[in-house]
Amino acid sequence: MQFGHFDDANKEYVIRTPMTPLPWINYLGSNDFFSLLSNTCGGYSFYKDAKLLRLTRYRYNNVPMDEGGRYYYVKDGNTVWNPGWQPTKTTLDAYECRHGMGYSRITSKKNGLQASLLAFVPVSDNCEVNRLTLTNHSRKTKSISLFSYIEFCLWNAVDDMTNFQRNLNIGEVEVDGSAIYHKTEYRERRNHYAVFSVNAEIDGFDTSRDAFLGAYRGTDDPIVVKQGSSTNSVTMGWYPIASHQLTMDLEPGESKSLIFVLGYLENPKDDKWESPGVINKAPAKALLARYQTDEQVDGAFGALRKHWNDLLSKYTVRSTSDELNRMVNVWNQYQCMVTFNLSRSASYYESGTGRGMGFRDSCQDLLGFVHLVPDRARERILDIASTQFEDGSAYHQYQPLTKKGNMDIGSGFNDDPLWLIACVVAYIRETGDASILDEVTPYDNDDATATTLFEHLTRSLNYTLANLGPHGLPLIGRADWNDCLNLNCFSETPGESFQTCANFESGKAESVFIAAMFVKYGNEYAELCRHIGNDGEAERAEKAAKDMYQAVLESGWDGEWFLRAYDGYGEKVGSRECDEGQIFIEPQGFCVMAGVGVEEGLAEQALDSVKQRLEGPFGIVLLQPAYQSYHLRLGEISSYPPGYKENAGIFCHNNPWISIAETVLGRGERAFEVYRKTCPAFIEDVSDVHKTEPYVYSQMIAGVDAATPGEAKNSWLTGTAAWTFVNVSQYILGIQPTLDGLRVNPCISSDLGEFEVERQYRGVNYHIEVQNPDRVQKGVVKLVVDGKEVEGNVIPHPGKASKCKVIAVMG
Ligand code: GLC
Ligand code: GLC
Repeated sequence: MQFGHFDDANKEYVIRTPMTPLPWINYLGSNDFFSLLSNTCGGYSFYKDAKLLRLTRYRYNNVPMDEGGRYYYVKDGNTVWNPGWQPTKTTLDAYECRHGMGYSRITSKKNGLQASLLAFVPVSDNCEVNRLTLTNHSRKTKSISLFSYIEFCLWNAVDDMTNFQRNLNIGEVEVDGSAIYHKTEYRERRNHYAVFSVNAEIDGFDTSRDAFLGAYRGTDDPIVVKQGSSTNSVTMGWYPIASHQLTMDLEPGESKSLIFVLGYLENPKDDKWESPGVINKAPAKALLARYQTDEQVDGAFGALRKHWNDLLSKYTVRSTSDELNRMVNVWNQYQCMVTFNLSRSASYYESGTGRGMGFRDSCQDLLGFVHLVPDRARERILDIASTQFEDGSAYHQYQPLTKKGNMDIGSGFNDDPLWLIACVVAYIRETGDASILDEVTPYDNDDATATTLFEHLTRSLNYTLANLGPHGLPLIGRADWNDCLNLNCFSETPGESFQTCANFESGKAESVFIAAMFVKYGNEYAELCRHIGNDGEAERAEKAAKDMYQAVLESGWDGEWFLRAYDGYGEKVGSRECDEGQIFIEPQGFCVMAGVGVEEGLAEQALDSVKQRLEGPFGIVLLQPAYQSYHLRLGEISSYPPGYKENAGIFCHNNPWISIAETVLGRGERAFEVYRKTCPAFIEDVSDVHKTEPYVYSQMIAGVDAATPGEAKNSWLTGTAAWTFVNVSQYILGIQPTLDGLRVNPCISSDLGEFEVERQYRGVNYHIEVQNPDRVQKGVVKLVVDGKEVEGNVIPHPGKASKCKVIAVMG
């Protein structure tokens, strides 16, 4: 069952009912100001940091769900309704929500009155613009009252939810014409405030939540709206809100638009006040002046559309599959940008109050957005590398505002360092900019320790080599990619973190997954060394990768698939000898991606075992059989009920590894089959089962053992976005950036036939036509570049030309 459809021409998803199984959200914002916006107008806004500079309040764990947002109440006679349906939930005569690139448009109708809300965050201003257009389609003049409503958060979102003894006394506002200012704590140490304003004269306002809602009433039935007039309340303490009242007459056919702006402003420390106790409103007035007319809003909206069209033009496929086209050209890249902007901080599953930026997560996210924003990727790489330790290990997380490593979590996740190699190589393959390797970069943010970035990569590699276990495989530390496989942390205390209670330094627990990473990224590092003329280092790395390959063959093969790990007692994890957790997905994907076992025929066998043992109708689960009880020696993985999260859920992040692995073997049919299973556009028709947004990936889909197989959770902020894009763009469609230029190496299912890709790469616009007369799955037999046939499948750089036409013939 579907609740909407894709509008490809407009790059929008069109939701046709407010009653989606879960709130279906969109992200507004490109730089510093961000908003989450659901299809019923729920969500919140923040500046830079969702925990520390939260502008509006959101209610977690609330019933009904998705409470808190930007709400507009229309009072038309005795009927009160919201264009987004929530919170009154008055039945609408028509409803449609279009989520687009950085904007959403909700249009609905009741009793002949149409309301259309356009919401976006301009590219160049720190505000959310809401343009509400009301049109009278009835035959009678309508006299209506409109009430706006937002609830302010007292900046620190955690303190705001907990510290009531103080917070209920500190709220402060100012009202100046149609502008309502939120200035809590501005009198003391803050030099920022928020404003919510409208470009019209108002007939009243409220800033006290209690005055607006009335005691014991909710946002579904505010007393002010019921009675039809604002109380002009000016709150001191309690719960500051901003609400405007606007009354108007609309003749039949008449249309009026109102522009609401929620802005974030800062003043210099010594210029905070206009007069004693009155905030300096100059920056707010300047901001609001830019959004007074429809022309101004149209201009800013046009700039936003151009911003996205430019970004998304870096990679465009034209194939016979609409689902494939819309994911590759629009939604998958869009989600990659959202993970760049938000990391794992703020979604409907990440509270915006918790995690910092993950070291491994950020490195992997980069693989998906490096082609979109290479300059910002460069900056990100240097930020991440600066949190590495001198011995090559790394802080597992860092804080986006300070860019410092997070002490509470510390280090010891032994896969982390190798991801740095992955993202630096990806950056240079994309841009050709090897100068990044010479950037002088500190360790643990201490400039005294700084070395070149290249040296950081060397230390990443060496860290693994310095931490090998009894089988010559890398020690796992607190966890590897699978945060929940905790072989050195034995937790018996409720509530304690499964990762940071590292209380059993076995010095033994080893990871076959990290071994595979080492082979893959060790070889990529070697390739990079050769590229910059450091052959000696290249040879050292190649030899180390070869030894690791050998160690995996000797101690990491279980007979029909790759083993997952050795635990702290030297016992196998992910082996047919185990009662549960006999086979894990991660080493099958990553070993084959690294080429391990390909020559020996083991790779094929491993992937066949995946299909046979791990695959279900909704994707490939993480392991089988699921753990039925808590295993102290394995950690968090067995804490989840069977079928959820790391305990045999479909962890979407590593399904593309299997798909890429299939392309390594040249099995294009199978690669595409795996790709399609978790790809949102291909499973739109099971939206009722899947429940999360059908236009983006979720982190997890409940597996075969779950009570609710196929039901997804944690949409939006997941490494799945980057890996699925890498898979489909580079391995399936096969347009691969390499150190020497763009390689064309597709691996496709035969029903895909021929396709074209438009790729902007290193300043050149490549138009690549892939022909497949014999319907093969892999192999390019002829490459014609601007009319001339060339050797191999890497397109030579076309010199000064800014355009390049390529025909690749598969066979
Ligand atoms: C989450 C984490 C990621 C980890 C994965 C598997 O997605 O953000 O770092 O690799 O879970 O545990
Ligand atoms: C990852 C996992 C999650 C776990 C967390 C711990 O996000 O997906 O299950 O609780 O890591 O850090």
